Amino acid sequence: MTNIEIPAFDTERVDTGFDIHSPEYLERKTDYEAEIRSKCPVSWTGNYDGHWAISGHHAVGAGLRDRNRFTAAKYTDEDGNLKGGITIPTAEGYRALPNESDPPEWDGYRKLVSRPFSPQSVEKLRPRIAEFADEVIDHMITAGEADFVMQVGSPVTALITLDILGLPLEDWRFYAERIHQTFSGVPGGGDSEAGIPGIQKRLTETIAARRLEPGSGVLDDLIASDIDGRPTTDDEVKDLIYDILVGGFDTTAGLMAGAIRYLEDKPEIKARIIDDEDFRRTATEEFLRWISPAVGLAKSATQDFELEGQQIKTGDKMWFMYRAANWDPAEFEDPEVVDLERSPNRHYAFGAGIHRCLGSNLARAIFQTVLPRFLERVPDYVVDHENTSNYAFACVNAGFQKLRFTYTPGNKVRSEPILEKL
Ligand code: HEM
Repeated sequence: MTNIEIPAFDTERVDTGFDIHSPEYLERKTDYEAEIRSKCPVSWTGNYDGHWAISGHHAVGAGLRDRNRFTAAKYTDEDGNLKGGITIPTAEGYRALPNESDPPEWDGYRKLVSRPFSPQSVEKLRPRIAEFADEVIDHMITAGEADFVMQVGSPVTALITLDILGLPLEDWRFYAERIHQTFSGVPGGGDSEAGIPGIQKRLTETIAARRLEPGSGVLDDLIASDIDGRPTTDDEVKDLIYDILVGGFDTTAGLMAGAIRYLEDKPEIKARIIDDEDFRRTATEEFLRWISPAVGLAKSATQDFELEGQQIKTGDKMWFMYRAANWDPAEFEDPEVVDLERSPNRHYAFGAGIHRCLGSNLARAIFQTVLPRFLERVPDYVVDHENTSNYAFACVNAGFQKLRFTYTPGNKVRSEPILEKL
């Protein structure tokens, strides 16, 4: 008998045929993820040049915390192909920082942007977030019908983020519409300023203008900053600001929209969210887990290693599935059930390891400020399900293209608007 040597990983690897861009994924979402996870928490698929699908709660945490074994940066392989990055396939034409960088560069980039988003800084921002929440609700409260995504969730998030950064508040719609278009698949205008290129262009122009005429804000601090003993370049400033804008707007808006849809017919829970701060905090974590606005992102292996019995090889792309981890029954009892007092709640809605979300404190503060204000001022909202639709993409983010609702018109609460027109 001949002894044929079969590499161990070939015999053990579970190929599920998982297709992150398939209509089936878009249609079945968490059911599809459950199927993949139940076959193996670290499975393989041959699609998109082949990649791992890491879907188990323990595997996602262990893999993401192992900072020395993966790269999040884009790189060119020996055949000249663009590889790496956080998407599958690798996206060309822009770079998000610190998201698509690795230590030691990552440490420098993250340090440059950490302070304004620390728990202490964000705590001080709560009154300002409340002002923006009141302002944004004032702009829709008399109409009797609105879209939660682009008239409440996205503008509050965009305005506070631009305010922190020191970018013009009037630009909120320019950025927010392009980010929403990119994530949700809402058709764009098709002009040269659409989508990501439009955002990149506007940021480049704004940074160049601010270099000539400095203001005072995080953007100006970044422009004047040093990294590794040399001045930070304009491109680096652009890539850092870009990451903050795209990382926050639709994710936070999607979280709030998902909660609003869930709460529509639950008056007792709405009342507790308004009145009970402790409940509001645990509810925030459960909405983060259950909704998981960030569904998945990629990293690439920089060495051979084993993850939960599977042999990962240098250069292999790994798709980390935050939502699948957050719905793993091995960690969460009845994961499909919303339990707003769930404890413990070790979710990975904000990722894990070094790239764990920079804006987690801000996202929580926005959610905890906007939700009670909205529920109090728009108590009888009815979701217009015919005019509510989910994103047209399945794998990176989950949210709504639009979530329209009707309600009894109310009164404005601010004596002076911050913006005449939203
Ligand atoms: C509910 C809202 C949010 C969710 C679910 C979310 C989710 C995530 C996740 C899963 C990651 C990890 C990415 C990775 O592993 O590569 C991440 C990173 C990041 N997030 Fe968020 N995010 C939210 C809000 C925000 C906000 C408001 C900001 C604005 C400051 C923000 C900025 C970032 C940045 C800059 C990174 C990259 C951090 C790094 O690479 O060091 N996010 N976010």
